[in-house]
Amino acid sequence: MPEIRPVRAADAPRLTGLLAQLGYPSELDAVTSRLAGVLNSATQQVLVSVSADGSRIDGYLGVERRFLLEEDERVEITGLVVDSAARRSGLGRTLVQAGEQWAVQQGLHTVVVRSNVVRPESHAFYAGIGYQRTTTSHTYRKEVRGVSGPGQA
Ligand SMILES: CC(C)(COP(=O)(O)OP(=O)(O)OC[C@H]1O[C@@H](n2cnc3c(N)ncnc32)[C@H](O)[C@@H]1OP(=O)(O)O)[C@@H](O)C(=O)NCCC(=O)NCCS
Repeated sequence: MPEIRPVRAADAPRLTGLLAQLGYPSELDAVTSRLAGVLNSATQQVLVSVSADGSRIDGYLGVERRFLLEEDERVEITGLVVDSAARRSGLGRTLVQAGEQWAVQQGLHTVVVRSNVVRPESHAFYAGIGYQRTTTSHTYRKEVRGVSGPGQA
């Protein structure tokens, strides 16, 4: 049986491969730095699944408490990946259940996730574990290095 536990700083090297599978190839230094931010966060948790012999991390789930003006506080799944060699064995479901348990421990009872349209398996997955599709949206992005005031492009 895999062990599901909170992430540790020493897990960074074993997380880089999973991040690449999720479409975010990252240098170890960058992952180490981001992981430090997560470990210092009062609102975020990352749960990892460690293989029975302790040698591998076969999946991880990121969750975050989201406090909005528009809606009651809830938990958002910010990242989820199961190693391609370990899929369809129930690990994704187990990780999400652990995240749901974390939500309940936080006193929160709604969990949401945004899933990119380029991940068809994730849509079948969330539907398969009881999540309902509520909205479809586009994501916009802008790099903001300079300072521009009102009326400037
Ligand atoms: C989505 C993902 C996490 C699912 O993990 P998993 O461990 O394979 O999923 P599980 O074995 O727990 O599947 C649970 C249920 O979800 C559904 N499901 C999962 N993958 C599916 C697929 N590819 N096609 C159809 N249904 C699927 C099934 O109902 C399954 O139950 P069953 O196996 O008893 O039929 C995994 O495919 C993955 O890491 N994909 C790449 C990254 C990604 O898309 N992440 C989500 C970002 S939001």
